[in-house]
Amino acid sequence: MNSFRLTPLLRRQLIHNTTSYKTPARRLFHSTSPIMSEKLKPAARVSGRRQDVWSIINEAAAASPRQPIVNMGQGFFGYNPPDFILAAAKSALDRVECNQYSPTKGRPRLLKALADAYSPLWGRQLDPNSEITVTTGANEGMLSAFMAFIEPGDEVIVFEPFFDQYISNIEMPGGKIVYVPMHPPAEGAIKTLSAGEWSIDFDELARAVTPKTKMLVLNTPHNPVGKVFSRQELEKIAAICVKHQIIILSDEVYDRLFYTPFTRIATLRKEVERITLTVGSAGKNFYATGWRVGWLIGPPHLIQYVSAAHTRICYSSVSPLQEACAIAFEQASAHNFWQVCIHDMTQKMTRFNAIWDELGIPYSQPEGGYFVMANFHKVQLPQDYPFPPHVAERPRDFKLAWFLIQELGVAAIPPSEFYTDANAHIVEDYLRFAVCKPDEVLEDAKERLRGLKKYLKE
Ligand SMILES: Cc1ncc(COP(=O)(O)O)c(C=O)c1O
Repeated sequence: MNSFRLTPLLRRQLIHNTTSYKTPARRLFHSTSPIMSEKLKPAARVSGRRQDVWSIINEAAAASPRQPIVNMGQGFFGYNPPDFILAAAKSALDRVECNQYSPTKGRPRLLKALADAYSPLWGRQLDPNSEITVTTGANEGMLSAFMAFIEPGDEVIVFEPFFDQYISNIEMPGGKIVYVPMHPPAEGAIKTLSAGEWSIDFDELARAVTPKTKMLVLNTPHNPVGKVFSRQELEKIAAICVKHQIIILSDEVYDRLFYTPFTRIATLRKEVERITLTVGSAGKNFYATGWRVGWLIGPPHLIQYVSAAHTRICYSSVSPLQEACAIAFEQASAHNFWQVCIHDMTQKMTRFNAIWDELGIPYSQPEGGYFVMANFHKVQLPQDYPFPPHVAERPRDFKLAWFLIQELGVAAIPPSEFYTDANAHIVEDYLRFAVCKPDEVLEDAKERLRGLKKYLKE
């Protein structure tokens, strides 16, 4: 029988079954009670983690007396892609072939559009068929890269603060993470300085390399710091990786948002390009983080294995939105879109960061991306403030974030979540704000943040 009809009998059974979900048996199934069978236990990779920052912040936002919260926390856009991109997505849905599976490596039209967009930046013609692969967002692309190259016990160097998804994505294939912290400028608590002043200790980086080091993850422009790694810094990282033949996974999802010269590590020289996978994201490029379209660019001897892993993880990525992204790339220059992106985000940065200047709170002036890190060293939290236990036990930035949500109704992200416990103190005075929000929201946030005045110590 091909069709499914809801007969009166079936309907009664369905209602009965649905209602019985609420019986104790169903509750037991979902609980962690000891009665739960061993076999139903989740794998270690998804269980036993402490509450993550996103649920702590969302929970705080829901519990806050200041409703609605001004959400400057998570990095999603508060506005739509431009009309020419939305129109491309809508028209793709009307086409039969756009509603079916795409080739696993990506739709030919998008691969060509990516090759056309990136070849001038690479200074040579990229081959759309062997040097680019389309993925389900940058995130799944990076998971595919780790799945493709990491064997259990292989080491991966990750700079702190890190984008949190790297960690589980590396651990899933059994990789071991070796952390190297980025250090804020020494005077970050008293002066507004460029985000470029956050630095890596290159001796520390060299010491992190062992015979087991297989990959290094770089992120530029950087989330959450807003740093764009300079050519000199990239040269030093590249020299280490070339010497030890370490694959560089360069997460460049904010590659169209830079306010200072931006160098792509793959373009330094041939030896570096040979070992580099560059990651991109249509979500970040086109204000559409929910579209889940990303890509990796790299030499065929690396890309083919990323494609192979991607095929096994999700087969192919969402078709109509790949088509829309192809059209977005094709038409971007005609709409002056890349310049508009930089112009608009710079204006938002200037508009929002004026509040820190007004309050005398120092911040890291972003060189790229859409996050700003403000230093709350001067903010004195009330002595006996009632933090819930899961916040009280975390570093000061979690308490700052909780306090801001409860008292002022502004959500921001505590960046110590993106450091290991041992290094969390490095950023415990900082909070990360996402400025990719409509101007009214930025103004609303500023007005609320003026409430900090009474908590500032000199
Ligand atoms: C540094 C960094 N890399 C990757 C991603 C994920 O990109 P996508 O949404 O395309 O998976 C993000 C998203 O916030 C990010 O900040």
